[in-house]
This record gives sequence, C-alpha cells and structure tokens, in this order.
Amino acid sequence: MKKIILTRRWPAEVEQALATHYECEFNEKDEPFSQSRLQQALVNADALLTTVTDRLDATTLGVADTRAKIIANFGVGYSHIDTDAARDAGIAVTNTPDVLSDCTADLALTLLLMAARRASEGERELRAGLWSGWRPTHLMGTKVSGKTLGIIGFGRIGRAMAHKAHHGFGMDIVVYNRSTVADNALNTVNARQLTSIEQLLTCADFVSLHCPGGQENTHLLNAERIAMMKPQSYLINTARGEVIDESALIDALASQRIAGAGLDVFNNEPDIDQRFLALDNAVLLPHLGSATVETRQDMGLRVLSNLNQYFSGQQPDDQVC
Ligand code: DGY
Repeated sequence: MKKIILTRRWPAEVEQALATHYECEFNEKDEPFSQSRLQQALVNADALLTTVTDRLDATTLGVADTRAKIIANFGVGYSHIDTDAARDAGIAVTNTPDVLSDCTADLALTLLLMAARRASEGERELRAGLWSGWRPTHLMGTKVSGKTLGIIGFGRIGRAMAHKAHHGFGMDIVVYNRSTVADNALNTVNARQLTSIEQLLTCADFVSLHCPGGQENTHLLNAERIAMMKPQSYLINTARGEVIDESALIDALASQRIAGAGLDVFNNEPDIDQRFLALDNAVLLPHLGSATVETRQDMGLRVLSNLNQYFSGQQPDDQVC
C-alpha cells in the first residue's frame, strides 16, 4: 500500500475512503504543519495531501531524499506551491477544480449582497442590543438587481458567478480575462468582454475577483486601480489575498473612496491586517468559499481520484505540473 500523509483533518467520509486505498497518516489534532514537518512528510510518504495553509516553497521542496512523488492539493488554487520547484524535484501536483465552483460563486454573491445591504452592520447592531426599531432611513444600502457586475478572471468560478448574478439578479455582466473568452460563454450571460481592467473598473458597480493568486497577479488591484472604481462601487474578493494591495484598499474604505468591500481571503491568513476590523463597510469572512459539506466531500474525493490515477500509471485529470 502506498503511504499518504494529510496535513490537515479532512471530512470523515473522505478520510475513510482514503484509508481503504492507502496507508494514511491523518492529522488528528488538525494543527498546521511547520516547514520542517512538511519536509519530513515529503521524505516519509509517497504522497503529500496539502491545503492552502501549507507553504511548499523551493526551500521546503528542496529537501534531500524525497520519497513523495505527488502533492495532491485539496483546493483549486495552488499559488502556495512552487510548481517549478516541484517539477525540479520530480513531484507531480494536482488540484480540485470544478467541484467547488458553485459554492465559491455562492459565497462571492453572499459577500456582494451582505456588503450592498449592510447585513453585517445590521447584525452587529441587533446583537449589541442597539436596534431602536424600524425607520425609513435605517441602514439604507444599495440595490443590487440590475446593476453592473465586473468580473476579473472568467474561469469556472467567474462564470458560475456571472450566471447566478445575471439570471438571479438581472445584473449586467462585464468581464476582463487575459485570453479571449468564447462567444457562447459570454452570450449565456449576455456579457461583454472588455480589453482592460481599467475599463471594467470605471463602469462596474460591483467588481468581483476570480483570477488566480501568485506572483503574476500580486497587487493586480493596486492604489491606482482602486482609485478608478466608482465611488458607489464595491470590491469582492474570493480569489486570493495577494491580488489586492490591502493597505490601498483599507485607505479607500476608511475614506469612503469606494462604498464597501466583501472579503473572504487575505494576505497572511489568519493573521489579517487588524485595520480591517474597524471598517464598518467591510464584510469579512474566514476563507469559507468552498466550505459546504457537499463540496468539501467532493473536493476530497477528487483528490482520491487524482491519487488513484497517478498510482495506477495514468496522468491525473487535475495535474497542474
Ligand atoms: C481553493 O480551493 O483554492 C480554496 O481557496 C482553498 O484553498
């Protein structure tokens, strides 16, 4: 039996399924692995099953006498894994696309609605016993239906978001994507592809990020670009924290240069920039994009399928390097 090491606790059904195929080392305490524990795992197992909380950089992957042949990541984003270093070490890397697109888009819409309708502010007020009753001017937000949604990154999650926003809320969709999007993908949501991020930022009422993280998209939304957003607009991020220059966003929110933000991902999770906590116009969630029972099980089973394919000599469907 091949030996696999899981760096975090996974849903029980998935751990049981893995145990019928592999000799498993589970992380009973669910504590994040240190860099040296990651290295030990690479040396002691045939496969390392990681998540976004594991930093697999060139130094970690450069450990001598690596036994692991595959890093099977539980998640679609893999900017925490240095794929060049993995390739150099002869280690394949897989991810879990598709199965989380709907739930991640649902969460992006949750953030969009919560920010626009000031849901967190209202709940905080009520829980603090500060609600003085209904009145016509109380916590007035922004109407969502019929507004323009700008989507940056029109992959699977961006498309799911566009579908829900257009067909559910009658939103007009504009898209920025590095490569040309096929007409049929745009037409099903009556979307227009714009040629620059700047064009999108100046016309959207809501901007939702669905591009990968990593070096190439670090601070894609910088101070200059945030300044181009409409004053009454909102920024939604379920992609990766590094895509936004957080200090620039905090300044824009504090000065009400933009109306608000809905954020599920941050730089340096879970030690987020404490200045966010003082901002009433920021909705903050702890990286919950794919966090439903159904999706987390599907993600785990997708990892199992990638492992089975790899160890039976096939190329895994979700091999990224
Ligand atoms: C993903 O799937 O990329 C989630 O953000 C968790 O890693």
